[in-house]
Amino acid sequence: MRSVILVTGGSGTVGREVVRRLLEDEHEVRVFSRRERPDIGRSPVEWRRGDLRTGEGLPEALAGVDVVVHCATGGGRVDVALTRRLTEAALRAGEPHLVSLSIVGADRAPGLPLFRAKLACERIVEESGLPWTVLRTTQFHGLITRVVAAQRWLPVVVTLGGGVRLQPVAEREVGERLVELAVGEPVGRAEDMAGPEIRTARELTRTGGRAGGLRRPVVGVRLPGKAFRAVRDGALLAPDHAVGRVGFAEYVAA
Ligand SMILES: NC(=O)c1ccc[n+]([C@@H]2O[C@H](COP(=O)([O-])OP(=O)(O)OC[C@H]3O[C@@H](n4cnc5c(N)ncnc54)[C@H](OP(=O)(O)O)[C@@H]3O)[C@@H](O)[C@H]2O)c1
Repeated sequence: MRSVILVTGGSGTVGREVVRRLLEDEHEVRVFSRRERPDIGRSPVEWRRGDLRTGEGLPEALAGVDVVVHCATGGGRVDVALTRRLTEAALRAGEPHLVSLSIVGADRAPGLPLFRAKLACERIVEESGLPWTVLRTTQFHGLITRVVAAQRWLPVVVTLGGGVRLQPVAEREVGERLVELAVGEPVGRAEDMAGPEIRTARELTRTGGRAGGLRRPVVGVRLPGKAFRAVRDGALLAPDHAVGRVGFAEYVAA
């Protein structure tokens, strides 16, 4: 019998890549998010509208589901509440395999609220009583292009300075890896996933800006404090897990 796979946040950056891949592989896909987006996927997906903050729509969305790929995010602390709500509902709904996304370095930069929150989410998943898999990845290429595009109206483009390096990965490849994990047995913490190249935030911003037709000076900002030092010292990198094939320049050129 085919598995039924629910994708929370299936309309988001990586969620839509998961949905696309699952449909290509002819899985039975259900998407959970607050708004229906008819443009997701090549064929119609079963859409369940609801809200992970309130739990509205969750029991219906989880009914009969074998695997949940959790890609929904409200950012920072909100994710802790969303993840808790999801795990509690999933436990009541028949204990599907929960595949969840986290961030490389979640335990290496505790001074950053986002990283603290992602680590707390990991703990919730691990202790949920559900069969689980957690994949940590580096920043998505699309995050960098979005940050650059958001500054389109400024005279300069601001990014992280102080030589901060990133190792971004293509969201499409992350989606594909999540699908591999979703159709397999739960593995607990999966091998981290990072992109093929390490570049400074400045270089990446310049490349992203040029590709988007923005020829502004790039200004690197150094932030005070221990958290920034951890980032500068490589907390966001996973050089031993450079499994992504698509580099940032190739991504923006496409
Ligand atoms: N972006 C990165 O560079 C990066 C790097 C590593 C890991 N991650 C992790 O990857 C995951 C996905 O990130 P992303 O960048 O793909 O996210 P995204 O593009 O911001 O998409 C967020 C998704 O969550 C849904 N959502 C938000 N609040 C919701 C709620 N209350 N109830 C139900 N659905 C809700 C949104 O759909 P609606 O608006 O329709 O509800 C949307 O589909 C996150 O856990 C993130 O921390 C991201």
